[in-house]
Amino acid sequence: MNKILLLAGDGIGPEIMAQTQRVITLVNERFNMGLECESALIGGAAIEDGGEPLPDSTLNLAKAADAVLLGAVGGPKWDDIALDKRPEKALLKIRRELGLFANLRPAMMFPELVHASSLKPEYVENLDMLTVRELTGGIYYGEPRGHYQTPVRKSMNTMVYSEEEIRRVAIVAFDLAMNRRKRVCSVDKANVLEVSQLWREVVSEVAKDYPKIELCHMYVDNAAMQLVKDPKQFDVLVMGNLFGDIISDCSAMLTGSIGMLPSASLNQYNKGLFEPVHGSAPDIAGKNCVNPCAMVLSFAMLCEYSFGQKPVAHAIHRALSQVLASGQVTADIAKGQAVSTTVMGDAIIQTLKELTS
Ligand code: IPM
Ligand code: MG
Repeated sequence: MNKILLLAGDGIGPEIMAQTQRVITLVNERFNMGLECESALIGGAAIEDGGEPLPDSTLNLAKAADAVLLGAVGGPKWDDIALDKRPEKALLKIRRELGLFANLRPAMMFPELVHASSLKPEYVENLDMLTVRELTGGIYYGEPRGHYQTPVRKSMNTMVYSEEEIRRVAIVAFDLAMNRRKRVCSVDKANVLEVSQLWREVVSEVAKDYPKIELCHMYVDNAAMQLVKDPKQFDVLVMGNLFGDIISDCSAMLTGSIGMLPSASLNQYNKGLFEPVHGSAPDIAGKNCVNPCAMVLSFAMLCEYSFGQKPVAHAIHRALSQVLASGQVTADIAKGQAVSTTVMGDAIIQTLKELTS
């Protein structure tokens, strides 16, 4: 049995999870995957239920599962809660508790969406890049942190990395690059930050074990600029937690819609949490208009990375491409008339049925 924990979360989370569950049921049957799903609360939904964004019961189920599929967390309703009780805290805690240090955020262009990018077609056609973001360290978790009572208000966060934390995520990036175009760009701020000097040193050491990989280093400000100037120069990018948060949003938007992009957060055993790159989009929640693709593609990544089922991931990709080509798409990417979330779900299911019959 392959156990998946489903965490729909807040905002549009439940809507996109519902469509993805249809896909799960179908591929489970068609590919005989032996999947068993269970659901639990996280984020604002969990706060409403028992006051905690990540209840112990949810965390225990996540630890016991083989993989976790997550919708999104957060919303204006919980914006005024203290940082350590907010829905986002659930994400930070589950990443850390499950040791999900490697966050893979692919940005690949579907040919049908070239028109939806804010860059000219020639800059984004066939774009296929992958950001590997360190996810359980750096300034997100560094100590000391906090607000301080001094005569003036003062607050502090600490960006800290050990060589081991850098090495393990660099290895993930280099391994992935070996199966791609064999280029790694490591992003840092080594002209200013000591922590980035160590980052650069350790990544360069790891590179010695990968003579076939072409490694370059780039300062993060330049990387942001290069992303909008010439994004196709990139294959795999690797960077710390905060830089990865920012750069991955930017790379996501190159592809036309953040509603298309999945992500995987993996530990050293490839156990993972899979979630769309987009957030809970409270402004459009409950309107049956959101794009379910990022969530469905997150499930495809789950099949590939946690269960080694590449053919299933391929089938899902093919189905989505066909649906996009047919023009039955949601408002974020539609050129003309848009369809609803459920109608797009119908189209995905119908196409997947045809492809796997
Ligand atoms: C992301 C999000 C999260 C992060 C937030 C919601 C805590 O922006 O996954 O990129 O900053 O890691
Ligand atoms: Mg982010």
